[in-house]
Amino acid sequence: MSLRSLHLLGSPVLRQRSAEVGTVDDEVRRLVDDMYETMEVAKGVGLAANQVGVARRVAVVDVEEDRFEMIDPVIVESEGRVAAEEGCLSIPEIFGDVNRPERVVIEATDRHGARYRKEAVGLKARAIQHEIDHLDGILFLDHLSLVKRQILLARYRRDHKDDTGYVKEVQAESASQE
Ligand code: CO
Repeated sequence: MSLRSLHLLGSPVLRQRSAEVGTVDDEVRRLVDDMYETMEVAKGVGLAANQVGVARRVAVVDVEEDRFEMIDPVIVESEGRVAAEEGCLSIPEIFGDVNRPERVVIEATDRHGARYRKEAVGLKARAIQHEIDHLDGILFLDHLSLVKRQILLARYRRDHKDDTGYVKEVQAESASQE
C-alpha cells in the first residue's frame, strides 16, 4: 500500500465525470487499498478516486466503524431531507451546511467484484452521497446558495493564494514527528 497525493479545489479531475470500472482487477484493488490508507492518514470519512487523481468510479467510506469500498455505485432509493455540516479533503478548512436525503440505499461493487446493496442513514448516508457526487464531478459547495458559495470560495482563495499547485502530499503525522 502507498499513500497517494490529494487533489485540491482547482484540479480539473475533481470536475470530471469519472468512468465506470466494470471488471475489478488487481489495479483497482490496489487503488482501493491506497485510498483506504490515504483517507485514514488524512483523517477523512470518505474519499473518491478522482481526489487522488484517478477518474474512475471508486470511492471509500469509513463511518461509524463501518469501512467499505463502493465501485460503480448507484443510489437506488433515497428518502427524507436533512441539513448538516460537510467538509471535504479537497477543500481543506472550508465547511458548509448541505441539504441531502436522510436515508439512501445504494448498489455497488466490492473489491471482490461482487455487487452488493447497502442501506444507510444519517452521517453514513451523507458520506455516501458526498462521495458519489465526487464521481460525477460535483463538490459539496455546489449544493450551497450562490451567496454562501461565493463567501466560502473567497475565503478559500485568500487562504490558498500562495499555493503553487493543487496537488498536496499526504503525510502521516507520526512519521513527520520522528
Ligand atoms: Co469530498
